[in-house]
Amino acid sequence: MKIAVIHGPNLNMTGIRQVDIYGTTTFSDITAQIDGLAETLQIALTQFQSNHEGKIIDYLQACHRDGVDGIVINPGAFTHYSHAIGDAVASMEIPVVEVHLSNIHAREEFRQKSVIAPYCIGQISGFGAESYIMAIHYLVNHRRK
Ligand code: DQA
Repeated sequence: MKIAVIHGPNLNMTGIRQVDIYGTTTFSDITAQIDGLAETLQIALTQFQSNHEGKIIDYLQACHRDGVDGIVINPGAFTHYSHAIGDAVASMEIPVVEVHLSNIHAREEFRQKSVIAPYCIGQISGFGAESYIMAIHYLVNHRRK
């Protein structure tokens, strides 16, 4: 089974930026935790971080071409306005789970809307790094082949 984890803009600053909201766990701690889970579950897992909308879309399209079985995406602020990423997710048959470190529904009004979630199988929001862990467990437990 192949899973891709996509980290959107500014997530590379996790642990450094707005620690009152996102916590002190660093981005490399989070990616290491995810890699550790993949090893435990014995699945092939790749991680990609970009601050650029087009690069995220290119990566999503590459996942489609490469036969990835499931995608976990934290689109960062693109969540709230990138119809281009929403269209890329909508165009794929791969199950996609949207995740967030913070609970976007308990924050500013503009963050409470996701233009990507309608094309995902679900959204996990507010559990810090565990949001990713839960999403990966879901995809593994519900693998399609
Ligand atoms: C975020 C929430 C977004 O609103 C914000 O722009 C981020 C991080 C989260 O993981 O909580 O960059 O996606």
